[in-house]
Parts: sequence; C-alpha cells; structure tokens
Amino acid sequence: MASTSAKLESTTPTGEKNKHKMHHFFISESSYRLTAEGGGRRPTIDECRMTARETPIFWPAIYRSGFKCRQCNKSYSSKDMYLDLTVTAGTTDYSEVKPARTELFRSPLVSFLYERGWRQNFNLSGFPGPDEEFKMAQEYFKPAEGGLLVDVSCGSGLFSRKFAKSGTYSGVIALDFSENMLRQCYDFIKKDETILNSNLALVRADVSRLPFSSGSVDAVHAGAALHCWPSPSNAIAEISRILRSGGVFVGTTFLRYTPSTPWFVRPLRQRTPGNYTYLIEEEIKDLCTTCGLTNYTSKVQQAFIMFSAEKP
Ligand SMILES: C[S@@+](CC[C@H](N)C(=O)[O-])C[C@H]1O[C@@H](n2cnc3c(N)ncnc32)[C@H](O)[C@@H]1O
Repeated sequence: MASTSAKLESTTPTGEKNKHKMHHFFISESSYRLTAEGGGRRPTIDECRMTARETPIFWPAIYRSGFKCRQCNKSYSSKDMYLDLTVTAGTTDYSEVKPARTELFRSPLVSFLYERGWRQNFNLSGFPGPDEEFKMAQEYFKPAEGGLLVDVSCGSGLFSRKFAKSGTYSGVIALDFSENMLRQCYDFIKKDETILNSNLALVRADVSRLPFSSGSVDAVHAGAALHCWPSPSNAIAEISRILRSGGVFVGTTFLRYTPSTPWFVRPLRQRTPGNYTYLIEEEIKDLCTTCGLTNYTSKVQQAFIMFSAEKP
C-alpha cells in the first residue's frame, strides 16, 4: 500500500470537529484495516509494535474505541489527547508502581511546574538551556533529517514541540510514561497553531518497552531523562532496537561526576537505590556500545552531558 501524506480530517471522541491536526501517525500496511473497521466496533491491529512510515492511523477510530493486537490479543485504550500504549493500558483493578524517579513526574503538580521553573533550574548544573540544547541536538540529527523522530521521555513536550515546529522531520512522536506530562504537552500544543498543523503524535509508553517495530525509527531524542529511567540498560537496548541502520540517538542527563570533580567529593556521589540513576560518562558510553550503538560522541559542561550514538 502506498504511503500517503494527506492530513486526516477528524472528529474528537465526543464527535466535535477537531481543529487539532495532530493525527498523522503511522501504522503498518497490514494494519490498514483499522481505518475500515473504525466507527463503533473495536478496531484490531496485527501487531502491538507499530511500523513507522506507512499509513496514517485513523485517529478517530482509535479515539472512539482503542484497539486490539491480533497477535497477542492485548487491548489498548486511548485517552483523547494521547494514545496509551503501556502494557497496563486498560487494566481496571491492577496498578503498578514504578520507582520514585518515574512516579515523581506522574504528579499533576510536578507536571504543571516542569516548564514553569523546574526545568530552568537545570541551568545551575551546566545545562545550556532548551534553545541551545535543541540546536546541539539538531546538529547530531542531520543524518535523520526527513525521517521519523521519537522524543522519548518528552515530559511536557519542550523539545517535541521544537522538533515538530522545525519542519525537519516527516513525523515527531512525543512519548512519555506520565499521563500528566502528556496532558501538559497537549495543552501547550493547543495554543500554537504552527504545531497543531505539524505531524506530531502523543503516545504514553514505558521507555523499556517501546511500541515501535525494530529498525523503524530514524532518530531518538531523550532530554534530561536517562537518570529518571527505572533501567537505563533496558531503555537503551530498546532505543537501539527501534533505530534503523544509520539512525541516531541523542540524550542528555546529569553526570554523577566528571574528571574535574575532586576525588574526595566522588564518594559522596555514589549511586543509591531509589534516587535518580546518575551515571558517569564511561558508563553511558559502555551502555551505548554494549547495546550495539557506535560512533559515540559527547559534549560535557559541568554535570551536563549531551551524548550521541548511531545504529550501525
Ligand atoms: C526530567 S523529565 C525530562 C523532560 C524533557 N525531555 C526535558 O528535556 O526537559 C524526565 C521525564 O522522564 C519520564 N520518565 C520517567 N520514567 C519513564 C519511563 N519508564 N518511561 C518513559 N518516560 C519516563 C518522566 O515522566 C519525565 O517526563
């Protein structure tokens, strides 16, 4: 089936005309029947792990009823503003508590404050600030121009919005585990006509189980996120799996310490269970390499590191 770039005219789950055109998502050819089966009945897809870049999902169908995977029979629910592709989507009695560093960002208050002061504090640790970090990331992403970019752990979409607005990518997926961060992201997007008309989708997922098929993504961005992940190794293995050959991963995080940190301070910054996982640069490089990524490179400023690696 030929891919199409036509924008979908859509309605919200409540039936209103939807002026928000963030509905350009992609699903594999085999799942195209989703468009035909929408309209009340639960649509089915062939695989949970979506294939990028073929046919846009018909969002209204998903919004009305969620969908079911033909392979594993798992049902996925939708939440108006974002598609919930976590394993626990749809559970009613079972709930799962993640480590504190993940749970913290699910709070409505933290999600609200995130772009209203919280993120600005990162500058004190050497983060250059969103505009400069965006520019730096765009340099690394040059080989992925025109492709699909997934902004994992996007928070309230600080960078997803910039990537979408840049027009550099055929599609941007803003992905986070926090429902409230995604709601904030949606609120910011609603206010900006340029982004509304861009090809941006919001997805809830765990970075340790990314809902994309192997080799289907051109670029993965993870801003200030690695230290928040329950398992950085699982996350980077997943990122490596979904990247196509030549695809680029760019991440930023806080380093536990740098070569210039005095030796007597280092023991005070040991990794402690429960808190954020601050790594040192050698550990980040080792993880990328062990997960099959190559051409590791980085820029460090105080505790800030931006690193990049490629899928061979
Ligand atoms: C410090 S914020 C970073 C937000 C944004 N990328 C930035 O550069 O400012 C870290 C984000 O990681 C997300 N996160 C934590 N655990 C996660 C997980 N298991 N899967 C996906 N995202 C997760 C949090 O919800 C939070 O939005």
